[in-house]
Amino acid sequence: MLVRLLYASRAVDTSPAAIEAILEKAREHNPVSGITGILCYGGGIFLQAIEGGRMQVSELFGTILADKRHKDVALLHYEEIFERRFGGWTMGQVNLAKLNHSILLKYSEKPELDPYAVSGKVSLALLEDLMATAAICGRV
Ligand SMILES: Cc1cc2nc3c(=O)[nH]c(=O)nc-3n(C[C@H](O)[C@H](O)[C@H](O)COP(=O)(O)O)c2cc1C
Repeated sequence: MLVRLLYASRAVDTSPAAIEAILEKAREHNPVSGITGILCYGGGIFLQAIEGGRMQVSELFGTILADKRHKDVALLHYEEIFERRFGGWTMGQVNLAKLNHSILLKYSEKPELDPYAVSGKVSLALLEDLMATAAICGRV
């Protein structure tokens, strides 16, 4: 039974080293538990999609919720799925600072990542667009 979960949060430490350390952990742990997904970061905000087995996703989300490196965790979307959308990434990374702003404007009023201001479905559509435009790095 596969599920997909999407949440947003605000980074406490916004340094590139802090973001890199989070990605390193994700890429170390996720293959072991069969988790795949995307971590998008921009302007101090994380948007992360995780997919995998229901128990594994639940467990990981519990761990992530307790992580002091971010705050204001908001669950945006959760669904049971037939197949993965981000199956090619143990945890793909999108650094929005390096992106063309038009992709953000497509889904929001301002060219900023603000998942708190839009529906979960819109944020998921943005992630899928990023994937389609090959804006994600870290394929394993
Ligand atoms: C925004 C964010 C995203 C994270 N994503 C993942 C993830 O996909 N997989 C993972 O194992 N840990 C992730 N973590 C880290 C976990 O919260 C936790 O620190 C880590 O799994 C603990 O690993 P350790 O027991 O080896 O130190 C994330 C943390 C943050 C703040």
